[in-house]
Amino acid sequence: MRQTADPEGLLEWYDTHARDLPWRVGPGARARGVRPDPYRVWLSEVMLQQTTVAAVKAYYERFTALWPDVAALAVAEDAVVMGEWAGLGYYARARNLLKCARVVAGAHGGRFPDTREGLMALPGIGAYTGAAIAAIAFDRPEVVVDGNVERVMARLHDIRTPLPRAKPALIEAAARLTPEARPGDYAQAVMDLGATICTPRSPACGICPWRGPCAARAAGVAGTLPARLPKTPKPVRFGHAYVARRDDGAWLLERRPDAGLLGGMLGWPGSDWGEASDPAPPVAAAWRDVGVEARHTFTHFHLRLRVHVATVGLGAVPERGTFTPHDAFRPAALPTVMRKVFDLAQGAFEISRQG
Ligand code: ADE
Repeated sequence: MRQTADPEGLLEWYDTHARDLPWRVGPGARARGVRPDPYRVWLSEVMLQQTTVAAVKAYYERFTALWPDVAALAVAEDAVVMGEWAGLGYYARARNLLKCARVVAGAHGGRFPDTREGLMALPGIGAYTGAAIAAIAFDRPEVVVDGNVERVMARLHDIRTPLPRAKPALIEAAARLTPEARPGDYAQAVMDLGATICTPRSPACGICPWRGPCAARAAGVAGTLPARLPKTPKPVRFGHAYVARRDDGAWLLERRPDAGLLGGMLGWPGSDWGEASDPAPPVAAAWRDVGVEARHTFTHFHLRLRVHVATVGLGAVPERGTFTPHDAFRPAALPTVMRKVFDLAQGAFEISRQG
């Protein structure tokens, strides 16, 4: 007979194998009574939505150095926060981060609500993030189900229904296991198990604390779960991007409208993106097509941008965008697709300068 999975077995494993993460109060410190800072838990959870731990670490360190508490973040300038978020993607998260900081610093007197329901009333906090913060920051026995937890539950119970249809069964399985004792550590323990042992391919079942009760391991199918419905291929959209450099070194940049993709981010002026795309230069100039497309994949489509470059005189009057002095321009403040455009454009400027 297989054993039944118990949270205690996993917590024991977590006590010695917890990952050392910059936002985490580890199990040892927690046992000594150290409590996590809800601001840091919230910030990390928002950053970790759709983004890997490896990608988040440096951003988390930078944000907490610049804005050590919610009051500091609440009074930060929008453009500075968006610039620091650049490269993390899903930019609505950054706009909601600021909105949320301002609500907490204002209406809530600087204190985060300590329940899932209270947290979910804040901008940018959905069911997953609300449960994660309530569990990790306030030790509430909430059911926290991210991609890691889905994978662990699908394997533990050998649930072969494909995702997303399997979601309710996976949530129910997770709920049955969530303990009243140490729910914050438990939530992080399942995440760590999924990230380090119960990995998507080639899980390390031999050293898993739940190898005894794991039904998929017993059936020899652990590495194949969770099943997923075949993905529909993403469509390709096309557009034009224009990089203008003025004779004094200034760059023509445009802040994108808040609503929509890359909302609130700085970028190069360009055309709409669609199945086909008409040129839309933002200033009269002798534009040159650099001959290479910038390619970037968003959640729902692949984008191909034709990159155009031009050098313009000091008197140039753009129809769109604003010239940003060379010293004030930080390529790192651009979202990744706009960084790609810049890298291609820069190559073209360098070649034309040499030629
Ligand atoms: N993924 C989402 N939240 C996480 C956390 N708190 N620790 C590790 N991985 C995570």
